[in-house]
Amino acid sequence: MLGGVNGSDGTPGQAAIELRGVVKRFGDLIAVDHLDLEVPTGICLGLLGPNGAGKSTTMRLLTGQAIADAGELRALGFELPAEAKAARAQMGVVPQLDNLDVDVTVEDNLSVFARLYRVGDVGAAVDRALELARLTDRRRAAVDELSGGMRRRLLLARGLVHEPRLILLDEPTVGLDPQIRTQVWSLVDELRSRGMTILMSTHYIEEAERLADEVAVMAHGRIIARGRPSDLIAEHAGRETAEVYGPPARLAEVRAAAEARDVRVRPAGPAIAIVGAERAVDGVTPTDAVWRAASLEDVFVMLTGEEAE
Ligand SMILES: Nc1ncnc2c1ncn2[C@@H]1O[C@H](COP(=O)(O)OP(=O)(O)O)[C@@H](O)[C@H]1O
Ligand SMILES: [Mg+2]
Repeated sequence: MLGGVNGSDGTPGQAAIELRGVVKRFGDLIAVDHLDLEVPTGICLGLLGPNGAGKSTTMRLLTGQAIADAGELRALGFELPAEAKAARAQMGVVPQLDNLDVDVTVEDNLSVFARLYRVGDVGAAVDRALELARLTDRRRAAVDELSGGMRRRLLLARGLVHEPRLILLDEPTVGLDPQIRTQVWSLVDELRSRGMTILMSTHYIEEAERLADEVAVMAHGRIIARGRPSDLIAEHAGRETAEVYGPPARLAEVRAAAEARDVRVRPAGPAIAIVGAERAVDGVTPTDAVWRAASLEDVFVMLTGEEAE
């Protein structure tokens, strides 16, 4: 059984991650801007933000790969960066880019990491990780014989081999085929159901919506909204969205008329979307609009100004 079950370790009620006023600058650029972020033990928090929002930098601060210019950081009760080594021992990190060792077998990729983390029973740890990633029957295969999905699962298994209490997933499915993405989602969902604490960054709204218990929307180095997806939708979008299709001139006209009545409109690919359309007065939403339930995508685009992927 993997560790990290709520309340079974650490101080009860203690947050797994606590960031207060964290700042990280690169020259004149502020990548992380007075960030406050708390991740309670036992949840999957989705850090959702467009490219450049500061997600990876935040992850790197948590692993000790980067040092903050200001603020307080704690992971699993350890102060960072001073106690980064102790924190890392109980943390699993899955990088965005596949850096598996292609010269050795599947199981050797895992045993090297198990030894690095000074796991007591390396054989048992490797078996457990293989089982979890459903790679037991491929254990003696060379990494370059694996399919894309298997490689990705192995990368996750490697981050779990020492039974961490907390796992950091930086954009776990970026650039993957939809089919492989689904396999990774199942695995992350399984970790979540085992009660592991997960911090997962993503710029895919669907990924956050499916896997995260809570979503923190990040832009320009800060958290601009946080909550359960359904609460974020109710608070920032409303109940229903009406999409209007047509030539640009007509869309501009509809948009101007709506905004004149204080109704919010966002771009939606070739269409525009009237957000919170149930609250609009008669005449604002054209009769040929397509109504649908409000979504996390509406929230994301409204808050960040970025079109969704
Ligand atoms: N090592 C670095 N040197 C200079 N700028 C960086 C470095 N790492 C990140 N940045 C910049 O910091 C900002 C946040 O980057 P990042 O944390 O990678 O965002 P995200 O992961 O959300 O896409 C971006 O503008 C990026 O270009
Ligand atoms: Mg990133």
